[in-house]
Amino acid sequence: MTYRIAPSILSADFARLGEEVRAVIEAGADWIHFDVMDNHYVPNLSIGPAVAQAIKPHCVRPDGTAVPLDVHLMVRPVDALATAFAKAGADIVTFHPDASTHVDRTLQLIRAEGCRAGLVFNPAAPLDVLEWVIDKVDVVLLMSVNPGFGGQSFIDSTLAKCERARRLIDASGRDIRLEVDGGIKVDNIRRVADAGADTFVAGSAIFGQPSYRAVIDAMRAELAGARRGG
Ligand code: DX5
Ligand code: ZN
Repeated sequence: MTYRIAPSILSADFARLGEEVRAVIEAGADWIHFDVMDNHYVPNLSIGPAVAQAIKPHCVRPDGTAVPLDVHLMVRPVDALATAFAKAGADIVTFHPDASTHVDRTLQLIRAEGCRAGLVFNPAAPLDVLEWVIDKVDVVLLMSVNPGFGGQSFIDSTLAKCERARRLIDASGRDIRLEVDGGIKVDNIRRVADAGADTFVAGSAIFGQPSYRAVIDAMRAELAGARRGG
């Protein structure tokens, strides 16, 4: 199992966003998680395609390899913005199935733009829809907080849902990342990994500390002890 840590730039200093992205990549980030909120699907307003385009050139490691830009859409409707973010440089575009009228079509549209496509499930949302579109899904993102804000507490029922999602993914035999988002810290990341997750979003836990590297290293040390190994 290769674990990925995806810092959410929602908790970064927006006045120095390019610098923050480079700093967190130098500290060991595997993906850059980019939260898009529309003050309609969620009660908050964040950043749009122009900002994605501006930070894309910063999504690169010191050795020149690219770091995937993981765009999490908390918007309704989905399709026009999914296309706009793909064109702005997103590598992964995830959306909430309850925000799209035609989920299968939205997945196809994202993949046709050359991006990996993913579905996001809120804490109270069942995984039912996944069964019918799993052949078009590259990422399953489970929300472990209600979407809209950083800095909330992890909701424990996510762990049982994560185990269920892991079984569905393994049964499909497909290469699908299982990502969890919200309230992930050094002291709970291992439990989330043990429940089957392989990709971990963390905003306030990383950007709230003076040393991003210290937090990411501590998370990796926890993951090295998880059931599937680091
Ligand atoms: C919440 C966002 C998260 C958020 C996570 O709606 O989707 O990505 O930034 O922040 P923390 O890690 O602080 O819970
Ligand atoms: Zn997110």
